[in-house]
Amino acid sequence: MTPALQPHRIDLGDVVLRPFEQSDEAAVAEALRDPDILRWTAGTAVIRTPAAKRAARWLSPRVDAWARGNAIFAIADAGTDEVVGNVALRDVHRVPDQAVAAYWVSPVARGRGLGARALDAAARWGFAADGLGLHRISLDHSLINEGSCRVAGRAGFQLEGVMRDYYVEPSGERHDSHLHARLATDAVSAL
Ligand SMILES: CC(C)(COP(=O)(O)OP(=O)(O)OC[C@H]1O[C@@H](n2cnc3c(N)ncnc32)[C@H](O)[C@@H]1OP(=O)(O)O)[C@@H](O)C(=O)NCCC(=O)NCCS
Repeated sequence: MTPALQPHRIDLGDVVLRPFEQSDEAAVAEALRDPDILRWTAGTAVIRTPAAKRAARWLSPRVDAWARGNAIFAIADAGTDEVVGNVALRDVHRVPDQAVAAYWVSPVARGRGLGARALDAAARWGFAADGLGLHRISLDHSLINEGSCRVAGRAGFQLEGVMRDYYVEPSGERHDSHLHARLATDAVSAL
């Protein structure tokens, strides 16, 4: 059982990290049109949902995720509040002092450092004594997802090893995955 979390907001200047709202459905629907977001982050239940209902299926458990111990942030444009991505710290304190990170950035917002900056900011808050007080945050990605590997490295998540056949696609295809992690005690330059 993971403890309930207080929803939180992090201001990064051009973007904010904030909890998802039901009104984000159209932006989430647009993001889920991207085959890579769908393939690597959506999960089998969402992928198997008819396309017209996928965004609602994805969004509803995330809007109230904080109460169930998952710090799920939308990455939103600071000017328009439009969702351009997602960074999550899941299963907070399920293993004491630990959490698991995940992220995506909408195709229109890629290539300007948002994925790495959002992951770094979420991790710093996760480690802070007045944040979540975590010691270790891990993440994994399929070996063929090079973009995810680069974001992880850029945000200070060191490569720890290869987990064989860890990631299973809805088709049943299995992939080896990299395990990365960042510790509260790691010296990571600000992004
Ligand atoms: C992977 C993803 C989050 C990258 O987001 P982004 O905001 O464009 O990434 P950034 O701009 O922060 O890039 C950080 C670094 O990764 C590199 N990078 C980003 N995408 C890359 C790609 N597809 N291939 C190779 N390198 C890539 C950047 O060049 C940058 O390198 P640098 O540190 O040398 O400057 C985004 O493409 C995405 O959402 N993909 C689909 C979902 C996904 O795979 N999520 C991760 C699941 S484990």
